[in-house]
Amino acid sequence: MELVFATNNLHKLSEIRHILQNINIQILSLKDIACFDEIPETAPTLEGNALQKAHYIYDKFGRNCFADDTGLEVDALNGAPGVYSARYAGEGCNFDDNINKLLLELGQTTNREACFKTVIALIIDGKEYLFHGEVSGKILTERKGAEGFGYDPVFLPDGHNKTFAEMDAATKNALSHRYKATQQLLQFLKHQNQVK
Ligand code: IMP
Repeated sequence: MELVFATNNLHKLSEIRHILQNINIQILSLKDIACFDEIPETAPTLEGNALQKAHYIYDKFGRNCFADDTGLEVDALNGAPGVYSARYAGEGCNFDDNINKLLLELGQTTNREACFKTVIALIIDGKEYLFHGEVSGKILTERKGAEGFGYDPVFLPDGHNKTFAEMDAATKNALSHRYKATQQLLQFLKHQNQVK
C-alpha cells in the first residue's frame, strides 16, 4: 500500500522509512506528491496538530496519509516545551536555539526527568485514527553526540548510557517514541489486512 507521510521534516521522513523498511508500505514524501506547502500546525495539543497536518494533505490531495506530532515534556518545566517543542526559542529558531533555551530554563535543577511523546494521525478513506508512543529519560546539562536531530543531544533515554544523538540510527529507531507509535500504526494496518 501507499501512504503519504505529511511532514517537511526530512529527519522524521528518514526515521519512518528506516523503521518501516522491511514492510510492504511505500512511504511517499510531500515532494513525491508535489506538495511544497508549509503545513499549518496551530492546535494546542499533539493530537490536534497531528490530525491538522494529516487532514491538510487528505483534504487537498485526496491521498491516504499520516502525520507525526512530537513533543518533549520536561517535568521540572511543568511539561514544557511540549506541543511547542519546535518553536520553543521563538519563531524561526533552530534546534540549537531550542536546546540552549531548555538548558537555560533548567539551569542546575536536579529534577531532569523528561518524556518524548509522539502522536501519529492516520487518515484512510476519510477515517481518522491516532497512535501514541512515549520514551522517558533525562535531560543532560550539556550536549552529547552528533546524530539524530532536535533535542537528541541532551536526551538520555532511561536504561541507556548514550543520548539519542550518540546512538546510530538503527539503535534510536528501535526504541524511540516514533518507533513505538509506528509499531501501533503497523499493528493496526496488519489487523485491517492493509499490510502483511
Ligand atoms: P513537530 O512534531 O514537527 O512539531 O516537532 C517538534 C520538535 O520536537 C522538532 O522540531 C524537534 O525539535 C523535536 N523533535 C521531534 N522529534 C524528535 C526526536 O525524535 N528527537 C529529538 N527532537 C525531536
